[in-house]
Amino acid sequence: SERTALGPLVGAIDQGTSSSRFLVFNAKTAELLSHHQVEIQQKFPREGWVEQDPKEILNSVYECVERTCEKMKQLNINIANIRAIGVTNQRETTVVWDKTTGEPLYNAIVWLDLRTQSTVERLLKRIPGKNKTFSKFKTGLPLSTYFSAVKLRWLLDNVEEIRKAVEEKRAMFGTIDSWLIWSLTGGKNGGIHCTDVTNFFSNDVNVFLFLFAKQKSGALTGVPISGCLGDQSAALVGQMCFRDGQAKNTYGTGCFLLCNTGQKSVFSEHGLITTIAYKMGRDKPVFYALEGSVAIAGAVVRWLRDNLGIARTSQEVEKLAADVGTSYGCYFVPAFSGLYAPYWEPSARGIICGLTQFTNKKHIAFAALEAVCFQTREILDAMNKDCGIPLSQLQVDGGMTNNKILMQLQSDILCIPVVKPSMPETTALGAAMAAGAAEGVGVWSLNPGDLTAVTCERFEPQINPEESEYRYARWKKAVMKSMGWET
Ligand code: G3P
Repeated sequence: SERTALGPLVGAIDQGTSSSRFLVFNAKTAELLSHHQVEIQQKFPREGWVEQDPKEILNSVYECVERTCEKMKQLNINIANIRAIGVTNQRETTVVWDKTTGEPLYNAIVWLDLRTQSTVERLLKRIPGKNKTFSKFKTGLPLSTYFSAVKLRWLLDNVEEIRKAVEEKRAMFGTIDSWLIWSLTGGKNGGIHCTDVTNFFSNDVNVFLFLFAKQKSGALTGVPISGCLGDQSAALVGQMCFRDGQAKNTYGTGCFLLCNTGQKSVFSEHGLITTIAYKMGRDKPVFYALEGSVAIAGAVVRWLRDNLGIARTSQEVEKLAADVGTSYGCYFVPAFSGLYAPYWEPSARGIICGLTQFTNKKHIAFAALEAVCFQTREILDAMNKDCGIPLSQLQVDGGMTNNKILMQLQSDILCIPVVKPSMPETTALGAAMAAGAAEGVGVWSLNPGDLTAVTCERFEPQINPEESEYRYARWKKAVMKSMGWET
């Protein structure tokens, strides 16, 4: 019999750097009912360049929606109960497309891409004292290759087709949320061009556009897209971090620790960025966050799999690490895209050091996992210094948190408990919550008292703090060696 008793459902499109997903949640219980995931290709046409095909991204989203709906039919869940859809996206990845043809004018330049290093250096030369944080009070961000504005500058300066399309007023620019929403709401036949405050290169909240667009294609035609959040903000919401001082760390392609600072923007003295956490509707207040961004987390596992071929799957890489349970003195700084927080050093490059004849691929796999934990420790330390009150535990989520060894290692290196929700898809959940709570939809309440309690798994530190400090000090030494490599 059909599971009609489920009540209203909400879908989430989660378009990340490594994969796209569509997930459907029960709005009453936050239970994940069905989902589908498709891996996305990354192209590396030159050293330091990272691109993706915007059409592949869009098609992967269509595929995820269609396949999830098929799975729901098999489970006897009525897709007509999906009342709203939220969109959450990899942030900063930049697309320019032609509004008359609906075709991208260039590949998407992925946030990890380093091609704008010379643009950043040129801009820095014009700033007194070459101060990277010159724009901090206006935008919350340092000058870095990471953000969309410099990527757009590069596209305008280097791609003739884009320059021409701009002159002829055919060009549209956006991050992945804009590209998807424009395409899903009709594309060249009247698609809606918009973004959300969490995706913008500015702390100016006047740019906020309230989203309420009806999808015009695919299995869910007519269902409103009523929420949009950058993926890290969505995870903050999905982890129910609605109060000042609540924080989460998401382990995806990169790793991002966000701490809700309430309705005030706090400026970091220790290399973090100031960003918008969320704004849940036109007349709702803006909430801010301090963010520690790490470029490479899950991506280092993918690199070991795809570039070194040490295993056929990511799970196998984790198994290799688990087999040895130690790096045996080997340290791996995966600074493939320079180093982000707290260093903001584009000249850093990846290094593996401390090798002996004893070292094998298992130790390198372990060192890669340990690098994710050390990088988190660096941003947690910065966060604690900026906030004044140290976090007593770390709420985590994201694909890598399924790896128990990694989570234990993280707790050991931080010397505090690590707490993981039993439903790790908090990014998608946050987008679904925003969509379900939107005006005119109203199937989800965001009052902390009404929210379903999150059941969690805890990891307590198991090594002594001296051992942890020793390893962290060695890591810092390795980081210093990675700096200034590419000057
Ligand atoms: O800013 C980039 C970030 O949004 C990417 O997230 O989950 O793809 O690592 P993720």
